[in-house]
Order: sequence, then structure tokens, then C-alpha cells
Amino acid sequence: MIGLSYMGNIIEELKKLEIESISRDIHIVGSEKGKWIHEKILELKPKKILELGTATGYSGIILGSEGAELVTIEKDNQRADEAKENFKQFGINANIIIEDGVEIVNGITSNEKEAFDLIFIDFYKKGYFKVLEDCLKLVKIGGYIIADNITFEGCQDYRNAILNDNRLKTEIINIKDGLSISKRLA
Ligand SMILES: C[S@@+](CC[C@H](N)C(=O)[O-])C[C@H]1O[C@@H](n2cnc3c(N)ncnc32)[C@H](O)[C@@H]1O
Repeated sequence: MIGLSYMGNIIEELKKLEIESISRDIHIVGSEKGKWIHEKILELKPKKILELGTATGYSGIILGSEGAELVTIEKDNQRADEAKENFKQFGINANIIIEDGVEIVNGITSNEKEAFDLIFIDFYKKGYFKVLEDCLKLVKIGGYIIADNITFEGCQDYRNAILNDNRLKTEIINIKDGLSISKRLA
């Protein structure tokens, strides 16, 4: 099943994991934002995706549902184990790195320059700004950085930076607490 496009309605198929995650107070993107992300995946057709903040794999399953290779970083062992099972169940081609996301993106910069078509940032909010420069190196020119919960106080410095950076063209998506999508121009 690995590498194949997902044939069903992925958001519907994820309903059980969505309900379960919410009931355990795990902050996943949820179905409304998930639907928007899935539409972006269908539109942009990224081949290689980096995610910061795996949790139990809900958003990772959406990101990888059309056959992209997913590299996803999670600092919590137990959540990473659960995500591994969930990725397996959905046939997602995912590599989970169990480490601190800030350190990892800083460390892979030289080897993996411009390796990703899309980066999805959804981990601790103060970390968003910390990883921005490294993500700009890791994403291809013409590629995209999407960030969740963009209206949160904690990522205000990130929001200001992406809206005022000439290397990026950024749009804010007003679904729930918001998403940003930034295209790397240069
Ligand atoms: C909002 S949840 C991610 C939800 C997931 N993207 C989804 O929608 O299904 C944030 C996750 O980031 C992880 N996290 C927080 N700080 C981190 C860090 N410095 N490095 C890696 N993971 C981190 C947390 O353990 C948590 O599971």
C-alpha cells in the first residue's frame, strides 16, 4: 500500500482517530483544517514533506495520503509509537524522528538543503520562529511552508516574520484558529 494514493475519503476515514485524539486532549488539526490541507495536497502534489509535531499521526496521514514521502518529528516517545501504528494502518510512507524538532531541522540543514516540497509546522508555538530560517533552507524554491494555529499569541513573532519577508508570499487562512501558507519565492 505504501506510495499509493489514498482512494477513500480520508477525512471521513480519520473520524475515529479525530474523536479519540480530541477526547484525550491531543491537539490535532481536526477535520475542518484537515480538509483544507488535503485539498492543498491534491493541488500542489508535494513529493517530499516535513512535519514538525507528529502527535498520533492525524495530520501526517492527511499529508501522506496521496503518496508523498513524509518525514515527521515528535519529541514524545509514546505519541510517536501510536503514530507509527496509525501510519501503518493507513499505508503512509513515513519516517518518524523522535527528537527535538528545533535541533533536528538545525542539524539536517546542510545535507537536506531544499529537500522538501512542503513543510508543515504544528509543534510548540514558541518554536515556530526558531525554525523559520532553517525551514527556509529546507524547502525548495517554489515550495510551501504551512503553519497551524497562526493566530495564537505564542507564534506572533513567526506570523510577523512571514508576513514581512520578501522571500515569501504568505496567505492567512481563516479556518478556526488559523493557518498560514507561505510560498518560498527566493
Ligand atoms: C499540536 S500537536 C501536533 C498535532 C498533529 N500535527 C496533528 O494535527 O495531528 C503538537 C505535537 O508537537 C510535539 N512537540 C512539542 N514540542 C516539540 C519539539 N520541540 N520537538 C518535537 N515535537 C514537539 C508535542 O509532543 C505534540 O505531540
